[in-house]
Amino acid sequence: MASLTVRQIDEALKQQLRLRAARHGRSVEDEVRTILREAASDTETPPSPGSGPMPAAKPVAAKRVLLIVGGGIAAYKSLDLIRRMKERGLAVRCILTKAAEEFITPLSAGAITGERVFTDLFDPAHEFDVGHIRLAREADLIVVAPATADLMAKMANGLAGDLATAVLLATTAQILLAPAMNPRMWMNKATQRNLAQLIADGVATIGPNEGEMAESGERGLGRMAEPLEIAAGVEKILKLHGAPRPLKGKRILITAGPTHEPIDPVRYIANRSSGKQGYAIAIAAAAAGADVILVSGPVNVPKPQGVTVIDVESARDMLAAVERALPADVAIFAAAVADWRVANAGAQKIKKQAGAATPDLALTENPDILSTVAHRATGRPGLVIGFAAETENVLANAKAKLAKKGCDWILANDVSPATGIMGGDRNTIQLVTASGVEAWPPQSKEDAAATLIARIAAALNGEQN
Ligand code: CTP
Repeated sequence: MASLTVRQIDEALKQQLRLRAARHGRSVEDEVRTILREAASDTETPPSPGSGPMPAAKPVAAKRVLLIVGGGIAAYKSLDLIRRMKERGLAVRCILTKAAEEFITPLSAGAITGERVFTDLFDPAHEFDVGHIRLAREADLIVVAPATADLMAKMANGLAGDLATAVLLATTAQILLAPAMNPRMWMNKATQRNLAQLIADGVATIGPNEGEMAESGERGLGRMAEPLEIAAGVEKILKLHGAPRPLKGKRILITAGPTHEPIDPVRYIANRSSGKQGYAIAIAAAAAGADVILVSGPVNVPKPQGVTVIDVESARDMLAAVERALPADVAIFAAAVADWRVANAGAQKIKKQAGAATPDLALTENPDILSTVAHRATGRPGLVIGFAAETENVLANAKAKLAKKGCDWILANDVSPATGIMGGDRNTIQLVTASGVEAWPPQSKEDAAATLIARIAAALNGEQN
C-alpha cells in the first residue's frame, strides 16, 4: 500500500479519530495506521498486572524499554512517561522499587504498560528462571525515572540488594537516568561524585530541571525532566526513525506567561497566568520535531530542554522579542499580556508622604502582540493562533476576537475562577476557526498541548484547516 486513503466514514467517526489522534500526538493518518497495525498484529490479551507468568518477549520489531521507577514524588509523572513511550511504538516493562510503591501502585503502572509490573528480587511465583537476568537482557534501554539520590548511590557503587539495582548491575543495555531530588541533595558532594562516576561508566542522564519543588517554598535544580523530554531522549538514544516528528523543519514561535508592567523600580502590575499552558505547548512542539522559540514572561515553570527561551518582563519587551524572532511558520500566543501599563512609570520608588494624595496611576494601552503579528503585511506566519481567556459568553467573545485580531485560530477557554484554569493544571478548550467550532474534552494542560500540536501538524500537512 503506497498510501492510505479511507473514504466513506461518517462524521462522528472522523471526529472520534481526530480526537484520538490528537490525544496521542499523531496525525489522523498515523493514528489510523497505528490502529491497523495493532489490529493486525495484536491478537493476544495482555496479562493482568501482578498475575500470571512473565510474558513472552515482544516481536523483535518493537524496541524494548525497561522503566525503573524510584521512590520520589516525581514517580507519578512516570505513568505519563509510560504513555509517551508507548505512543512511540515502544514495548515498556516496569519495575517499581519498594519506595516507588509509596507513590504509585503496580496496578496503575500495569494498567498503562499492559504488562505485569515487577517489584521483588525474590518472588517465588515468578523468579524461578532468574528474572532479573532476563529483565536485564530483554531491554534495549533501561530508563530510571525518577532516579533518586539513593538509587544513584547504589548504582555508582555496584550494589544489587533489590530487583531494580540487581537489573541495573546485570544489564549491558544503555541506561538513561532522569534524576529527581531535593536541590540540596542534588548539589551534595556525594551525589555529584556518584553522578560523575555514573557518567564515566557510560550512563546517560537527562535533567534535572530547575523549578519549584514538591516541598512548599523550595526551588532549585532537582525537578525530574518532563515526560516528553525524557521520551525525546529515549528516541534519540534508540534512534527511532519511526517516531512521529510531524513538525520537523517547522519554526514555531510561542508566547507564554504573564507580563509585568512596572509602576516604579520595585512595583509592578501583573496577572495570575502561570505560563504552564504555553510551556506545555513548547514542550509538545519540540517533541514533534519543531524548532521552538518561547518568548516568556516571568514564570516559575522549569525551562524546557531543546527549546530556545527568551525571557521578557513587559508587553513591549515581549513584542520586540517576538518581532526579532520572526519569521516563523506558526505563531501561538498563549501569553496573558497585560492590556495596560502605567503611563508614567516612576524612575524612583514612589514614596508615601504624610497627608499627600495617593499616587495617580494613569494607564495607557499596551501594544496587542497577537494582532500586530497577525496583521503584518510581510513576514506573517502561515498559521497564527491566539487564546481567548474569557469569564463569560466564551464562544461569542472568542469569535469576535478571531475576527478583530486577524488570527487563523482561537483557542477559547473559560477562565472564570470556578474553573480553576488560571494557574491550575487542567484546561477545557474550544477551537474556533473560520470553518467552525471544535470542542475538546477537559484534559491536562499537557494533553491540551499535544492535541493542539497534532491539530497543527494535521493542518500543515493538509489534512484539516
Ligand atoms: N494578546 C496579545 N497582546 C495583548 C493582549 C492579548 O498578544 N496586548 C493575545 C493573547 O496572548 C491571546 C489573545 O491576544 O492570545 C487574547 O487575549 P485575551 O486576554 O483573551 O484578550 P484581550 O485582547 O486582552 O481582550 P480582553 O481583555 O478585552 O478580553
